[in-house]
Amino acid sequence: MTTNSLRHIAFIMDGNGRWAKNRLLPRVAGHVKGAAQVRSIVQACAQRNIEHITLYAFSTENWARPADEVSALMSLFLKYLKGEIVSLQRNGVRLKVLGDVSAFSKPIQEAIALAEEQTASGERIQLNVAANYGGRAEVVQAVQRWMREHPQAPAESFGAQELESHLLTHGIPAPDLLVRTGGECRLSNFLLWQTAYTELYFTDVLWPDFDESALDQAIAWYQGRERRFGKTSEQISAR
Ligand code: IPE
Ligand code: IPE
Ligand code: MG
Repeated sequence: MTTNSLRHIAFIMDGNGRWAKNRLLPRVAGHVKGAAQVRSIVQACAQRNIEHITLYAFSTENWARPADEVSALMSLFLKYLKGEIVSLQRNGVRLKVLGDVSAFSKPIQEAIALAEEQTASGERIQLNVAANYGGRAEVVQAVQRWMREHPQAPAESFGAQELESHLLTHGIPAPDLLVRTGGECRLSNFLLWQTAYTELYFTDVLWPDFDESALDQAIAWYQGRERRFGKTSEQISAR
């Protein structure tokens, strides 16, 4: 069996609320445990020579949650950005935030800029954090940016390449594997364009319980997939 190359894993980190509920704890306790899990998963991916991981941390729709939960998530995000820089640097992790950061508070925006700047030389793995991210908005804004740059251009001059180069993920290879924890089988507006040929793995494990061995199960599942990209199985095995 040939092994599939695995450069990029995207994660929908779902199930924090249910993890807490199962323990009769407030939802926020699940987010705290979930955030703590991030460090070990990033390290585990680096050890497995993954080049990119993308974490769905906060969707454009998550603003609609109760105000106290949104504010707890914002505090956690700020704490992570400030507290993880040294560990990210030590592990060669380059951080990049994907999403409309202008909606965040000044301190968060400053912490994002600082964390990105101070980890910019990380060469082992890139950690993309999708925050205030929505796939539909990303595509719409990419088209708008291109149109602004080319006000006179005929419609035919806009194609997939032009779109791709104006997405937030420009320069990042498409995810090979997407892992969603928490049992739901949907994308919830995550990387809609980029996942066209991504292998989708859904697990009931809740994000705060998602550990290295759960990661290895997901990778083993991925390695068992035949990625055909529209071709036939015979063409693939003749490679
Ligand atoms: C994912 O966990 C974290 C965020 C959306 C920020 P949830 O908070 O959605 O957990 P469940 O789905 O309610 O269990
Ligand atoms: C997706 O989880 C967003 C993140 C993990 C950040 P949600 O919990 O918001 O998704 P839905 O509402 O169940 O689709
Ligand atoms: Mg959820």
